[in-house]
Amino acid sequence: MLNFEYNISTRVLFGRGQIVNLGKEITRYGKRVLLVYGSGSIKRFGLYDEIIKTMEENSFVYKELSGVKPNPRIKSVRSGVQICRDHNIDLILAAGGGSVIDCAKAIAAGALYDGDPWDFFTRTAQVEKSLPVGSILTLSATGSEMNGNSVISNEETEEKLPVASEHLRPKFSILDPCYTFSVPPDQTAAGVADIFSHVCEQYFSPVKDTYIQDRLAEAIFKTCVEYGPLALKDPEHYIARANLMWASSLGLNGLLGYGKMGDWATHCMEHAVSAVYDITHGVGLAILTPHWMNYVLSDTTLERFVNYARNIWDVDCKDGMETAKQGIERTGEFFESLDIPSTLGEVGVDDKRLDDMAGKSMLRPEIGSLKKLKVEDVRKILQVAL
Ligand code: NZQ
Ligand code: ZN
Repeated sequence: MLNFEYNISTRVLFGRGQIVNLGKEITRYGKRVLLVYGSGSIKRFGLYDEIIKTMEENSFVYKELSGVKPNPRIKSVRSGVQICRDHNIDLILAAGGGSVIDCAKAIAAGALYDGDPWDFFTRTAQVEKSLPVGSILTLSATGSEMNGNSVISNEETEEKLPVASEHLRPKFSILDPCYTFSVPPDQTAAGVADIFSHVCEQYFSPVKDTYIQDRLAEAIFKTCVEYGPLALKDPEHYIARANLMWASSLGLNGLLGYGKMGDWATHCMEHAVSAVYDITHGVGLAILTPHWMNYVLSDTTLERFVNYARNIWDVDCKDGMETAKQGIERTGEFFESLDIPSTLGEVGVDDKRLDDMAGKSMLRPEIGSLKKLKVEDVRKILQVAL
């Protein structure tokens, strides 16, 4: 196990009706709020009205930035930064899924930076400070509600890039599973695949002797397998939605990655695919994950895959390699059982821009850590996923 410094500072208010605490939470940071949300789902299921009621009862001054798209655009971030400057905003409140929360974080950093917020994503500038962010989560998937990451797309350059900073971790997050009852089946499934993939990225690590982290990770894998199908079958199943919501946060708040090195090659590839084709993040991951697994499986990585197959899928053949392969097969079948497409072709990706996507995946000369991948490896994985 590697050395680490534990710091997960987000205050989480979990469960039914936690919105009653919103006014108290905002008051800790000021009175002037920028409310950020997407295309209107929060209006349809009533959350918007609850937020506005809180604003009015507490005499907060509030401005709104709506229309944040899935795969959030730098254009929205720039608009939000302008609102913060014009209205002397104290806190950004994000109400939505990962896209809305990521956009809010980028606005929060951009508001205190004397330049274009895209600089953070191209590594031209570092996030050194930010306005406080609070979130009300409406889709279980990314873990953005409890981490310091933001992923933003730039349509002009066809890039989708991440930034990570402790300054961006939300100060508080309201996690009410009832707010996810209205998430449609395709987004519910994509969210489960995203959670599953975050666990994979941290579980399949070259660092050994991380028994406790591995068992924690397995608990989250199993939560996806147990409750993903149930949430699809019965969207208002509180226990299913609650378990998935907490799995989303624990899956990527830092806990599983402490003391080890993550892989993240699948995420690099998916971000490149969605930068070019604007596909749903979780869908891209579900398609790529089994192909990545097959590609990196070898005698060196076998032990991890055998543990995974045994502990998650109860597969146990005499031969280790056979066990590992069956575990990978079960992974693909699981995503298919959630009705997620299994090829990139099904979501409109063709072979015309394979080189481009492979190139855009390479945030470094080699990506991944379980097996380091060069651009030609990435191209092969994308090719078989077509
Ligand atoms: O636009 P709205 O109205 O918000 O509708 C959204 C959107 O259409 C809808 N939705 C959300 N909650 C709903 C709902 N519809 C009905 N009822 C509800 N309660 O779902 C659609 C997708 O929303 P989005 O926020 O895009 O989904 P998700 O949470 O999966 O976020 C995906 C984005 O996060 C990034 C992804 O790359 C992608 O851009 N990621 C962020 C990470 C992070 N910050 O740590 C890590 C991840 O690996 C990921 O890269
Ligand atoms: Zn993800």
